[in-house]
Amino acid sequence: MLTSERSLCDRVELVKGQTTAIIDEIIGSLPNSKRLTDSERRGIIARYTSVLEGNFIYWMTATAIAARSPQSQPILLDNLYDEVHDAHPHMMRKFALAANAFPTDKDFMALHDDLTRMRLFMGKLMPVRSVLAMAFFEGFIQKFMAYLADLAMELNSNELEYTDVHGVCDIEHTEGLYKVLAAELALAPSEPEEGLFEGVILLRTLIEQIMQPEYEPQAEHIAGLRNGSARLATSGARG
Ligand SMILES: [Fe+2]
Repeated sequence: MLTSERSLCDRVELVKGQTTAIIDEIIGSLPNSKRLTDSERRGIIARYTSVLEGNFIYWMTATAIAARSPQSQPILLDNLYDEVHDAHPHMMRKFALAANAFPTDKDFMALHDDLTRMRLFMGKLMPVRSVLAMAFFEGFIQKFMAYLADLAMELNSNELEYTDVHGVCDIEHTEGLYKVLAAELALAPSEPEEGLFEGVILLRTLIEQIMQPEYEPQAEHIAGLRNGSARLATSGARG
């Protein structure tokens, strides 16, 4: 193996290790699902659904548009094929509805600012950062599935197709995304370390908001957002 290939492999392994450590830290800090109230369980499923149902395919598509290496496209399209062919958004909705946890306007709006930041980040179409963000997201989703299934079962649902499928297929998807990361880094060997985890950090913040929103959106804030006259982030929220 050439020295440049060796250093690329080392760099991907290093980044993968750092990303996995962040995922494991989040999973390790999840509250005990048995000790949550039904309202808290419903809220987590609802906010998770409000992000995943409408944004996952969109962000993977953004990553496919951003990627530049010929090796990246087949892997990313294969991931999107599964999402579309097996109708994962439908699977997500079925899961939430069966747990009586379909998101309300408050659930959507509790994540408004952090979701907007993530959407704007994806719009910058930065290949390496986007791919790393999606590798993190797939890896997190896969490890989060057992917990999400526990929440649904605590809410007396046995509709677990979404969590069953994503606990398994995302292992392969995550590995594929690290191959894409290697291919994209090979085209951008001078990609700076600084900022590499930009999307990962935004997603981590979004996940933290899913688990425990910093504020409960009030009706007047939602109304303000509708007519464009106010931002949701007020007291106690991130600026
Ligand atoms: Fe999916």
